[in-house]
Amino acid sequence: MEAETQGDWVVMVTARAPTNIAVIKYWGKRNQKLILPINSSISITLNPHDLSATTTVVVSPSFTADRLWLNGKEVSIQGDRYQNCLREIRSRATEVTDSKTGRIITKKDWESLHVHIVSKNNFPTAAGLASSAAGFACLVYALAQLMGVQERYKGEISSIARIGSGSACRSLYGGFVEWDMGKDDDGKDSIAIQLADEKHWEDLVVIIAVVSSRQKETSSTSGMQDSVNTSKLLLHRAKEIVPKVMLEMREAIKERDFATFARICCADSNQFHATCLDTSPPIFYMNDTSKRIISMVERWNRAEGTPQAAYTFDAGPNAVLFAPNKAKACELLSRLLFYFPPASDKKISSYVVGDVDMLAFKEVDSCIKPPEVEGTNYTQSFGELDYILCTRPGEGPLVLKDHLVDPSIGLPI
Ligand code: DP6
Repeated sequence: MEAETQGDWVVMVTARAPTNIAVIKYWGKRNQKLILPINSSISITLNPHDLSATTTVVVSPSFTADRLWLNGKEVSIQGDRYQNCLREIRSRATEVTDSKTGRIITKKDWESLHVHIVSKNNFPTAAGLASSAAGFACLVYALAQLMGVQERYKGEISSIARIGSGSACRSLYGGFVEWDMGKDDDGKDSIAIQLADEKHWEDLVVIIAVVSSRQKETSSTSGMQDSVNTSKLLLHRAKEIVPKVMLEMREAIKERDFATFARICCADSNQFHATCLDTSPPIFYMNDTSKRIISMVERWNRAEGTPQAAYTFDAGPNAVLFAPNKAKACELLSRLLFYFPPASDKKISSYVVGDVDMLAFKEVDSCIKPPEVEGTNYTQSFGELDYILCTRPGEGPLVLKDHLVDPSIGLPI
């Protein structure tokens, strides 16, 4: 496409936002348009160095339409979720002075200025790792920065990310985050709240086992609607169980009590998947590999008498595992490598990725030997995992200096 900006000015902002993994799951909406949940939830924000979205938003008087590029491809921005986020941010835009040029963009100007949005993830979207949470959090955060949106109340920007994708609201903060379901019909009080920052529980290690065979999965959005419509178990969970476990989980995080954290986290994941099975028609997100990972952790925990590791699964077969410290994380990794060795053509260096250095896991090659397995009754499953990603709790969104847009043409670099 020829030079779009035709010498006109451009103003842009680039931001990065993390993904998050729920340890008390959000599953079910009471209002689909505003994305208001039937229960509160709690998540851990993951280190953006390992898993995040980066988004540049740019305006220029020469742009003739709002446009969006995701991971290198232009896609439609007409969907309700994008339109709702854009509308809410635009309605809160204020007068902005560009720090570089001194140019003033008035509140009125924002109404007619079109925006180009260029976004990419630093992890494969196909891996089924919550990309919509990072994506919408990043989009809304970047637009809010660009258009000078000030929060009128704490959490207001998270409530705008929420209407993009529910779980996205929790990616507006680092560390440990609660999404308060709220009571209001307009969704104003359905916001994310930081329970503790990423430094609060620094020892905690997160290991993600990305499962190989990926069949077409039911999307969270339609899956949870089917559950709301058909699962009595889900309604019981939302009303009777979640309010209690929220209290326990908040306390476990506050006290860095891994045993309680692990117990609630695994139980909540299993309960969420039970509500999926209770849905008509039933939804299966976990596969046999997922179940073998659960058994591995459960057997280890039982053999030791106290939780050594915890697991949780979202709307897909990948396992997100937690270890209380680096030593336990190394043990967990050894066990994973023993029970789930890479396919024969895969090198360990591309099998175990992410922040491997943090673990100082030197024995990567030598650890493919039996850990002290309980008896000899075990099977090894080669090639069932695509890769294993090591990470930890991380920080919330921030503004970056490097842009994804060429300012002379207003298009992706
Ligand atoms: C299983 O936030 O992707 O990951 O609000 O429809 O966009 P929408 O759904 P989404 O659902 C996430 C479901 C989950 C649990 C969680 O993250 O809490």
